[in-house]
Amino acid sequence: MIDGLEDLDDDRIAAVRRAAQAARSRARCRHSGFAVGAAITTAAGRVFAGCNVESASYGLTMCAERSAICAWATATDRDSGAPDDDERISHVVIDTCAAVPTPPCGACRQWLYEFARGAVVISFAGQSRKSWRVLDLLPDGFDLSDVALDRSS
Ligand code: THU
Repeated sequence: MIDGLEDLDDDRIAAVRRAAQAARSRARCRHSGFAVGAAITTAAGRVFAGCNVESASYGLTMCAERSAICAWATATDRDSGAPDDDERISHVVIDTCAAVPTPPCGACRQWLYEFARGAVVISFAGQSRKSWRVLDLLPDGFDLSDVALDRSS
C-alpha cells in the first residue's frame, strides 16, 4: 500500500470495488474475452463506474477506466478536478479477470493525467491488489498547458 490510500478505508475500497465488479459484469469484450470494470470515487464519495466496450474495428475499443471517466464527466461540472474540489477524482478502482492486478493502458494513463492527476489507482485481481499514483504511471505527461505554448515561433 502507498501513501494516499490512508484516506480511504478498507470498507470504502471494498464498496468501490463492488461497483467496478458490477460494471465488469457488463463488459462487452467479445474480441479479447478480457472483461474490465472500473469505478471512480470523488473526494466527496460519489461513485461512477464503467466497463470496457470493444469494437469490431478493434482500435475503437473503449477501456473501462475511460468509460468511468466519461460517466464522471457527464455527471459533474465542467470545471471539476481542481485539487480542492469535492468532485475531483480521488481514487480509481479496477477489477479484472486477470491472474494478477493489471495497470491502466497508455491511453487511459493520458486521460487519468488530464482528469484525475492527483488520484490513486487500485487494481484488483481476485485477492491480489496493486496501487499506483497517477503521476507515477505517467510522469511529465502532456496536457492543455503544452498546447497553449507560445505560437510566435
Ligand atoms: N482494457 C481496459 O479496459 N483497461 C485497460 O487499462 C487495459 C485494457 C481493455 C481493452 C480491451 O477491451 C481489453 O481490455 C483487452 O485489451
